[in-house]
Amino acid sequence: MCGIVGYIGFRDAFSVLIKGLHRLEYRGYDSAGIAVIEDGIVGFKKSGKVSDLEKVCEQHIFRSRIGIGHTRWATHGAPIDCNSHPHYSENGKLAIVHNGIIENYHSIKEALLLKGHTFSSDTDTEVLIHLIDEIKTKTNLDLQDAVRAALRKVVGAYAILVLDEDNPGRLIAARKGSPLVIGVGNNEYFVASDATPIAEYTRNIIYLNDNDVACVNYDGLSIVNLNNIVQVPFIHELELQIDILEKGGYPHFMLKEIFEQPRSIRDCMRGRLYPDEGRIALGGIKIYEDFLKKVNRIIIVSCGSSWHAGLVGEYLIEKYARVSVEVEYASEFRYRHPVIDQHDLVIAISQSGETADTLAAIELAKKCGATVFGICNVVGSSIARNTDAGIYTHAGPEIGVASTKAFTAQVTIITMFAFYMAQLKQTISKNHLKEHLAELNLLPELVELCLHCDDKVKKIAEKIKSSNNCIFLGRGSAFPVALEGALKLKEISYIHAEGYPAAEMKHGPIALIDEDMPVVFIATNHSSYEKVISNIQEVKARKGVVIAIVSESDTQVNKIADYIIEIPEISEFLVPTLASIPLQLLAYHIAVSRGCNVDQPRNLAKSVTVE
Ligand code: M6R
Repeated sequence: MCGIVGYIGFRDAFSVLIKGLHRLEYRGYDSAGIAVIEDGIVGFKKSGKVSDLEKVCEQHIFRSRIGIGHTRWATHGAPIDCNSHPHYSENGKLAIVHNGIIENYHSIKEALLLKGHTFSSDTDTEVLIHLIDEIKTKTNLDLQDAVRAALRKVVGAYAILVLDEDNPGRLIAARKGSPLVIGVGNNEYFVASDATPIAEYTRNIIYLNDNDVACVNYDGLSIVNLNNIVQVPFIHELELQIDILEKGGYPHFMLKEIFEQPRSIRDCMRGRLYPDEGRIALGGIKIYEDFLKKVNRIIIVSCGSSWHAGLVGEYLIEKYARVSVEVEYASEFRYRHPVIDQHDLVIAISQSGETADTLAAIELAKKCGATVFGICNVVGSSIARNTDAGIYTHAGPEIGVASTKAFTAQVTIITMFAFYMAQLKQTISKNHLKEHLAELNLLPELVELCLHCDDKVKKIAEKIKSSNNCIFLGRGSAFPVALEGALKLKEISYIHAEGYPAAEMKHGPIALIDEDMPVVFIATNHSSYEKVISNIQEVKARKGVVIAIVSESDTQVNKIADYIIEIPEISEFLVPTLASIPLQLLAYHIAVSRGCNVDQPRNLAKSVTVE
């Protein structure tokens, strides 16, 4: 997973590309590079951040209107200068940037080596540009046809941009399995992995489809598929607002996104929740209502935080709609020959809508005849487009690599879906539903109140920031929250953290507890309150340091815990969202105080478009 960007038009291409790479940096930040056409191709690349690339480019006076750029998350080859993109043909006349993996690059490389090609990197991408060059030189095909011919030989996933100094007014863009969008301006075009580098220039967007090969010129574009059949592009209107792509005064995107949650949750419920009527409307899946009334098995597939949101769904859908739910890691589901058929509903949850394993799980489910819904944040993403129907989370772009507002939006959607199913299947009384929806409607304000704990959480973070390990415990629908709290902490602070169902602690993890072990409990006054208190006592008896998230009215935990963080008095079904807020803040403040780069943690990238 990497970010690619291209430009052709009347502006200074270098500035557009560098700005675009900064916007895309959340997708990968091992190394970066650009290539533009001046008298010939001029390129720069550097391991490290986009800012490191900028330093390398400082001496050059750019004067180009066309170019491509790349920010990398390494797959094939270490993150060193020579493996950075762009990659070039041997004569330096062709340049390529690539997001994805060419799975059969090894056999293509062997064939090219036999023909005398030499390579200067360990990447699969360099093999592809040599292949394009080989075909173009040997067959005299035009650039777009040569790219098409090369891609027909390729197995794997790609979004690519190709420059050719012999065709200085053309940019070739192609995709299969990795996202690519074209922004259509007035006499200018932008191409990028997502719309974030494009939004400030134009609202007109074309989402390329798999197997599309586009030829973009200064004055127009044409698209064919790999079989040379002309494709008619559809121009969508982009809704993305620019201010959401900036930090807006916050030191990090993650903190900004945490504080955006009252708004993102409100947006996620808008037009769907009718508390006065006691009704949920989910327009995107409405035509499936008859199917949903009969469905008796739901399988949720996802990865990472989205998988945790799926687990919350399991608790809520089974409780309120009485439908059996299984939650699977997409990466396991796709390879374990699952038993599914046309009676099943598969729901794929994904912030990016591009996670490779989740996409593959969807394909498998469709092959087996299941109906597949998507719960995605990125509009027009591959998952949104490859599912039968879906529900957008509308959280807005999430730039911080650690998911925060996208996670709580997913939980909000899955909560609404549970009530929607209960409404359809009449497994909940009208009064009960109305009461719950009235409370759900207050969620944005409740989240706002929760955010007031920030200062307190920061002080607690100071106390435990030097720990090497941390355990998170919760029961019922708070168990996925414990998993999410642990994931947040480990991914941005590099502290080893584990989440467990509180009762499981006795089956092993309790052996780890001593005075150096912080244990974070979700201990609100709901169904398992007394039992969780017993678990806290067990930790205290072994000198563990207890941090407990409790309800405002708590009278017992505050007597035994070392630190408490209060959240508003709410029904149990809202605990997953509200208890997540202090855990996000805890991870954030610990990571900041340890000097970690919270928006771009090491080894991670925002969307995992490779297996
Ligand atoms: O885009 P997706 O929701 O499909 O991504 C899934 C995971 O990669 C993602 O949730 C990851 O675990 C986050 N870094 C968690 O903060």
